[in-house]
Amino acid sequence: MNNISAVILAAGAGTRMKSKLPKVLHAVCGKPMVEHIIDAAEEVNVHKSIVVIGHKGEEVKKAIKHRGVDFALQKEQLGTGHAVMQAENFLKDEGVVLLLCGDTPLIKGDTLKALIDFHREGNFQGTILTADFENPKGYGRIVRNEEGNVVKIVEEKDASEQEKRITEINSGMFCYDSKLLKEALKKITNDNQQQEYYITDVIEILRKEGHKVGAFKTEDKAEIMGVNSRVQLTCAEELMRERILIKHMEDGVTIIDSKNTYVEKSVKIGMDTILYPGVILKGNTEIGEDCIIGHNTRIENSIIKNEVQIQSSTIMNSSVDEGCTIGPYAYLRPNSKLGKKVKIGDFVEVKNSIIDDGSKASHLAYVGDAEVGKNVNIGCGVVFVNYDGKNKHKSIVEDNSFVGSNVNLVAPVVVRKGGYVATGSTITKEVPEGALSVARERQKNIAGWVERKGLLKKD
Ligand code: UD1
Ligand code: CA
Repeated sequence: MNNISAVILAAGAGTRMKSKLPKVLHAVCGKPMVEHIIDAAEEVNVHKSIVVIGHKGEEVKKAIKHRGVDFALQKEQLGTGHAVMQAENFLKDEGVVLLLCGDTPLIKGDTLKALIDFHREGNFQGTILTADFENPKGYGRIVRNEEGNVVKIVEEKDASEQEKRITEINSGMFCYDSKLLKEALKKITNDNQQQEYYITDVIEILRKEGHKVGAFKTEDKAEIMGVNSRVQLTCAEELMRERILIKHMEDGVTIIDSKNTYVEKSVKIGMDTILYPGVILKGNTEIGEDCIIGHNTRIENSIIKNEVQIQSSTIMNSSVDEGCTIGPYAYLRPNSKLGKKVKIGDFVEVKNSIIDDGSKASHLAYVGDAEVGKNVNIGCGVVFVNYDGKNKHKSIVEDNSFVGSNVNLVAPVVVRKGGYVATGSTITKEVPEGALSVARERQKNIAGWVERKGLLKKD
């Protein structure tokens, strides 16, 4: 255990978002902002993260409780310092505390690591993560003395004209010695313009008591960008999207149009795979090597193995084995499992079905609640009739079977090995192994009927 706790402030209302959703739950690249901060904290191996909730706290708690964090409740939002006070009981006397904000989704674990190292190696008791901003408006400013040492942080609203000209800003993220932070929290007052308890005051309190305070300046300004509005949310989205895509490119993925490719942080992609414009990859998706993911394809929570080619299709909660070809316009709904070299062609929908190696449904079919064996041909227009209006039923089509075009397989039903189903048949009973099954009216020709009816067209 390396004795680091994180306190993540997430109790504010986020008024400027103009939203019913609490600010920290707005997603950046598919993940609530506050979870990105939890990710960064996990990267530095914190032994505990405490999220301070308040405004719509229950909603925030519900959304992130799977992350295994602790929650502290701030009933009234009386300022950032007051927010940290609510987490005090979770803090120990040893080690350091990372103070983080729930609205800075771009912060990286590496930067937090560097902040902690700077704090420890410099023997500081309090360290601020800062940056130089050309336009520092709205941020707290870092006030230094003639020797260049940090003296205090002054909020924009409390700053003198001279202080307002300072370009070094407070990111809102800090590293403190736990025990000293707890003691300093008791001394914060709300004697300022906004009549709030500011966490920023801790710096001045510690310094006045003779402790060493410092600032770790980061070059990557994007990382400490706070999201307070929808415009900033989109900025954060673009920056994070770019960051994710660059990582994949560095790992050997070709991305044809990075402005129009959307990949969530959790997605894994193998080498030499190509993503075409308009691709959306979400959730726990894993894509293998040498795949071609064609334009406007959306894949969520699915496993795609090597050498799969997909064109303009949607795949949800499914798995696709090596060498399959899918689309254009195919729809794999949840629980579809394709074996190796399966072909799912245009306008084919598959749901909750297994389709084994080498089988094909090349065009216009619905395969629902089915178990399809190896090397089966599912013709054009085949419907697995799985629903009787009340219940869903299962169909089984065994290896090497052939299901002709426009066949209805009325479930529950089984086509045994090598069975042939004639085109246009509606199958309601088992097709035995190796049998041809024809289940439709025989053709009848009535000679001369057209002429007798006076319908014959002359050239
Ligand atoms: C704060 C800092 C400012 C810094 C800026 C960086 C203070 C007093 N000011 O200002 O120096 O430059 O962040 O972005 O700390 N929160 C609570 N409870 C509260 C108030 C806020 O949990 O009572 C949370 C918010 O949800 C948010 C974070 O604390 O996640 C920061 O609060 P915000 O109001 O955005 O602070 P700023 O005015 O941006
Ligand atoms: Ca803010």
